Amino acid sequence: MSWLSGSQGPGVPTFYIESYGCQMNLADSEIIGGALTERGYRPVAEPETASVILLNTCAIRENAERRVAQRVRQLIAARNDPGRVRIGLAGCMAQHHRDRLLERIPGLDFVVGPDGYRRLGDLLEADDPVAHVRLDPRETYEGIAPLRGEGPRAWVTIMRGCDRFCTFCVVPYVRGRERSLPAEVITTEVRQAVADGYREVVLLGQTVNSYHDGSSDFGELLRNCAAVEGIERVRFTSPHPADMTESAIAAMAECPEVCPYIHLPLQSGSDRILADMERGYTTGQYRALVAKLRSAIDELAISTDIIVGYPGETENDFEATSTLMNEIDFDHAFLFKYSRREATKAWNLEETVSEEEKGARLTRLIEEQERRSAAWNQAFVGRKAEVLVEGNAKRQTGWLAGKNPQFKTVVFEPTRPGLRVGETVPVIIEAAGPHTLRGRELASV
Ligand code: 5AD
Ligand code: SF4
Repeated sequence: MSWLSGSQGPGVPTFYIESYGCQMNLADSEIIGGALTERGYRPVAEPETASVILLNTCAIRENAERRVAQRVRQLIAARNDPGRVRIGLAGCMAQHHRDRLLERIPGLDFVVGPDGYRRLGDLLEADDPVAHVRLDPRETYEGIAPLRGEGPRAWVTIMRGCDRFCTFCVVPYVRGRERSLPAEVITTEVRQAVADGYREVVLLGQTVNSYHDGSSDFGELLRNCAAVEGIERVRFTSPHPADMTESAIAAMAECPEVCPYIHLPLQSGSDRILADMERGYTTGQYRALVAKLRSAIDELAISTDIIVGYPGETENDFEATSTLMNEIDFDHAFLFKYSRREATKAWNLEETVSEEEKGARLTRLIEEQERRSAAWNQAFVGRKAEVLVEGNAKRQTGWLAGKNPQFKTVVFEPTRPGLRVGETVPVIIEAAGPHTLRGRELASV
């Protein structure tokens, strides 16, 4: 069935973006949106009425790429007027496979890597399928105003790229070298976001805490953002354990606007595997960092990323991961099966853990983590939480949803009518599961 027929009427070029992967990609989609809006395109919420359809892709694991390849083929098949509807791939998968994608996916019009979005307008005007996949070590998209979404949260990219080259990871190859935006550009963007009605900013970077613009480090930047008039919450993601400085910890501890939540990727609880991954820390250093963070910051929530089945991971290595996760007692964990990525240092390593075994290890960690997450959430029951409202609850009509400072989702019954996106309301927590807290708004006095 053909259902993609392009924009209605001449002279109104429209675009539709689907984002995959991490928050950096969401933020990049907003930059793409800004760049296209500047060139006279108008955003639409569904592909059916778009003259440009763009998937902003992720390359971190093979299944992320597989999903996008399926989706783009489906969109191409549904298009009934290739002259009017242009379909393209942007982001990390585009960079990873480059112009090969134009051969592999017939009907694809353009491919653009993470540093090519200023050229997007030109690419859309090209007559033939076209790829722009040159990395630009200076590109920070300074000067392009992002086209932000709804809700109280604004993403602000403060640095791009990564210089760490962990052996399993494709990011340094598809996003290029690390570069930071000037601190005053960032604080101006935060001020603008507040003026536009946003209540919370999330500072983004692949190793966000290695931020340095030549004069300000990440701790100073956190303080400067927290000091912006009218900002309610400052968050950041993702820091690297080896880049966590005293200055950043002090800023988290001392600025009430900086939320007590940190996502601190561990990857493995085995020192041997961490060394093989070239992560730059030992389990002892990670443990010490967590202890320091917890003693400095009240009610800190900690989440992590873990990979199971890295080449050479033995039963003992895996047990060490399970034990350390239990000891640290993470609030939440994102758990992944190792996926071998072309171009990475680990690409040539022989895989030693079968898919089946990876699956079994993953399932076990998921079960263990669900229990810990439920226990952490249970500890909030009977207590008051400040919830920044994001919108209606998905499953319960009339209820609202938002996040507490620890970034846990709270769904609650309002005591006053009306949707109050962007308001921070006191909620008494009455029940908790591994994924959400439930409660009732406390009537204001
Ligand atoms: N295989 C599996 N997981 C990976 N990650 C990064 N690269 C890979 C890979 N090749 C995970 C890491 C990282 C998160 C964003 O994705 O845990 O922290
Ligand atoms: Fe990938 Fe390591 Fe860089 Fe994170 S720090 S983006 S895991 S290379």
